[in-house]
Order: sequence, then C-alpha cells, then structure tokens
Amino acid sequence: MSTPITPEPKEGHHFIERADAWLDARTGIDSILHESLDEPIHGGARWAYVFGSGLLFLFMSQVITGVFLTFYYVPSADHAHTVVSYMVKVVSSGSFIRSIHAYGSSGIIIVLCLHVGQTILYGSYKGKRELLWLSGCILMALMLGMSFTGYLLPWDEKAYFATAVGTNLIAEVPWIGPLLQKLVRGGDQMGTLTISRFFVLHVFILPGMLIAFIVGHVFFFRKAGAAGPINEDPIEPKLPSVPFYPRQVLMDAAFAVVLIGILAVIAKMIPMDLGPSANPADTHFLPRPEWYYRPAFQWLKYLSGRWSLVGGIIMPAILALVFAAVPFLDRKLERRPWKRPITVGAFLLFLVCYTGLGFASYHDDYSDPAMAAQMHKQDADSQAFMNSPFIPETAGGGTPANVASADPIVVKGHALFQSQSCNSCHGEDATGTAAAPALTGVGAKYSEAQLEALLHAPNIKMTAGGMQPVALEAKDLEALSTYLRQLH
Ligand code: HEC
Repeated sequence: MSTPITPEPKEGHHFIERADAWLDARTGIDSILHESLDEPIHGGARWAYVFGSGLLFLFMSQVITGVFLTFYYVPSADHAHTVVSYMVKVVSSGSFIRSIHAYGSSGIIIVLCLHVGQTILYGSYKGKRELLWLSGCILMALMLGMSFTGYLLPWDEKAYFATAVGTNLIAEVPWIGPLLQKLVRGGDQMGTLTISRFFVLHVFILPGMLIAFIVGHVFFFRKAGAAGPINEDPIEPKLPSVPFYPRQVLMDAAFAVVLIGILAVIAKMIPMDLGPSANPADTHFLPRPEWYYRPAFQWLKYLSGRWSLVGGIIMPAILALVFAAVPFLDRKLERRPWKRPITVGAFLLFLVCYTGLGFASYHDDYSDPAMAAQMHKQDADSQAFMNSPFIPETAGGGTPANVASADPIVVKGHALFQSQSCNSCHGEDATGTAAAPALTGVGAKYSEAQLEALLHAPNIKMTAGGMQPVALEAKDLEALSTYLRQLH
C-alpha cells in the first residue's frame, strides 16, 4: 500500500466531516465521488445529454416498483390473474404502483428512442466508441425482452393472446424453431410453466444482465468520455471542458423529476387496465401488443404465411445486425448530421416507416366495422372487469361449492375442468351458462366408461355447441370424469 491509512480525525470536528473522514479512510469514497462528479464534459453541460441518465433513472424506478409488485405476485396460471386483480382492486396504491411500472416500460422505450436518436444525430458513437455502442445495443435488446416477458405476467386476455402470437413467431425460426418455442413456453401450450419461465426471465435473468451491461456501458462511456457537440473532435477534444457536477447533474435531476412527474400523473389519471382472466377457449379475442410493438405486428400481418420466415426472422435479424454494426460501417470522424446523409437518412427512413406501420395497424383495426366492434368490446370488457369488485379465491384454486371435497382426484378433476376451459362454457362449478348446460347429474346419466367415451368423442349437439374432443391422458381423463360424476 502506497498511501498510509489516515488517522481518525480528532474530537471537535463537525460530525459530518468526521463521518466522511471515517468512511473515506475505509472506502476511498472521496476519490470515487471526485471521479464520478468531476468528470470533464467538453463543450459543457447540455440538455441533449440527459437521456442516458434518464434511462438509468427509469430503470431504477422499474426495479423499485417491480419489487413492490413481486411482494404480491404469484407466477402460476391459476393465481396470477387473481393476485394482480387483488393488487389493483384491494391493495392501497397497488393500482398506482402497477401503473407506474407498466407506463414506465413505455417511458423507457420513448427515452430510449430519444437517446439513440441523439447518439445517431450527434455521431456520438464515433471515435473508439464501438464497445460503448455495442453494449447499448445489447441493453436495448434486453429492454425489449423485459417488456415482452412482463406483458404476460398479469395473465389477462390481452397478455395471454399477445404472448401466444409472440411465441408463435419463435416457431418460425428455421430447424430449431419448434423446439425453441417449446423451451420458451415450457411445453406445447401456454400455462403455468410459461408464466414461471417468463417470471424468472423478467425478475432475475434479464435484470441481472441489464445491471451487468449498464455497468459496462457506463464504464465504456467514462473511458471514451462524452463526445461533446457535433463540431467536436470525438478522439482529441478541443473545446474547454466543464465538470459534470453541478450543471449536468442538475439537468439530469430535473429531467428525472419531469419523467417521474409525467408517469405519476398518467398513472393517477388513467390507471393501467387489467382485463378479464385469460380464456384460451375465447376464439374471438383479437390479440394486440403494446403500442411500440404495433409496427412490428403490422409488418408481420403484411408478411404472413410463407413470407413469415423472411418478415418475422430474417429481415429483423439483418436490420439488428446492420444497426449494431453502425460504428464499424460509418468510420469517418465527421459528426455533423448534414454531412452524413446515409446514416442519418437511413435512421430517419426507419423512423418514418416504423411510425407509418404503427398508424396503419391502428387504422386497420378501427376502419373495419366488425373488427372495430370487437376492439371496443374488448375495451369495454376490461373496463367492466376493472369496475367489478374483487372476488377472492377459495380452496383448491377454484370456487367454493364442490371443491370442498377432500378427495384429491376430485380436486384434480376440478382443476382440469378449469385448465381445459370447460368452465368457459359450462360455468365455474359446471352449473351452466348460456353457452352450455349444467353438468350436475351427469353421474346418474352416464357410467364412467360412457362419460369418458363421450368426452373423447362429443356428440353432434356438443360439437355444434363448440365443444372440442377432450385430449387427455387416461389418468387425467379419469380424474375429470370422477369430478363430473360427483356433481349434484
Ligand atoms: C365451447 C363450449 C364448450 C366447452 C368449452 C365445453 N363444452 Fe361441454 N358441452 C357444450 C354444449 C353446448 C353441450 C350440450 C350439447 C347439448 O346436448 O345440447 C355440452 C355437453 C357436455 C356434456 C354432456 C352433458 C349431458 O348432459 O349430456 C358433457 C359431459 C360435457 N359437455 C363436458 C365438458 C367438459 C368436461 C369440457 C371440458 C373438457 C367441456 N364440456 C367443454 C359446450 C362446451
């Protein structure tokens, strides 16, 4: 050790000074603060630089609100929707925190666009900043992964169907697609394993990677230094430098206050909605992703069928590669945007196309009357669900009436009755709905063998009513029919 340990300050100093000296002797905090706050910015502080720290701030806000949401969340197809509706309808400020988190993800996308736009227009990726750019590209991909995995977790109709579309796309990957899809879903169908996989990605793996890459990104940024205004030499800056603190710190802080202020106002005025629980049997639901995925969604609509491999996988992959390669392709040190028509032009063209596709998607939905009616119905359904009181779960993950049974086979049968979506037509406790009759008394009507045969091959009337043949293993089928036969 070259620096001797400084002796503890004597009595009589101000408490703060003493505490600081105590801490500094053990951590070197003073030089760390000096390093981070007195970083030189060539050309001085600017509002154009606030987006990076704005992103960091939003990320921290997501972590904090996310931790609160995790206190209540249960990653299971049986319970996820109930606990989220509990959070929204019962927990005080639960809806507010959930809304901040949900709108925060949109906020991140917007600020991300501004950050990337500023970097491209200013040519700030030039001059030995390739790793800085690449770590940024990975952060962007991780963020998109965060919003994709987070969207499923409430397990309402829109979450379920949008993720079904998203994961269907994975199957388009050549050769390994179907396997990959199975891996992501945790099986052929979406269910509890899909939720728990998405949950682990959303809460552990992706945030862990994000933190690691944020550290790397900030490190590379510090190493290269701020690129400065567009007429600055990105490698050997000539403009006089001004320390990061206080002006830039204050600008960054002001931007953070604006961001959280906007989020809070929107979260308070328009709480993020939660739709009815996912019903895989609902064949009318029109799945729609978050607004920032809308253009991609529309693009896939144009290039569906035999073009889906090209449109859904190959072209986006090429686009991503070209984007990641920008600092390798555009190597001149010229930074003024009007002198760099190709990079800047390509970026603006992409923005125009992406926005255009987004508008086309909304236009398609609301210009066709049948489609518009369905979209409005879906909105109305979620509003109605939001306004209805919270209904707690009871034993067995179902409704009380007949799950009081201690017989595990009956409990399992009841669970299958729900997971197979029989409840969507026959009602929660098989007490019947407008779509299908009550099943009470089928035990007297059919023997076990007859009932199983009927479930395997529904009769004409059942098929006409939309009922599908049950495809379950012998044991599960037995549990389902045992449950049905004990209903009275
Ligand atoms: C799309 C709606 C729908 C779904 C989903 C559905 N059913 Fe049905 N089911 C019907 C209709 C409609 C009938 C009555 C047909 C008739 O006889 O009029 C029926 C009849 C039945 C019957 C015969 C009742 C009787 O008294 O003869 C049984 C048993 C039955 N369903 C069990 C199930 C089970 C178990 C599931 C889940 C695997 C299921 N259904 C899912 C619509 C549905």
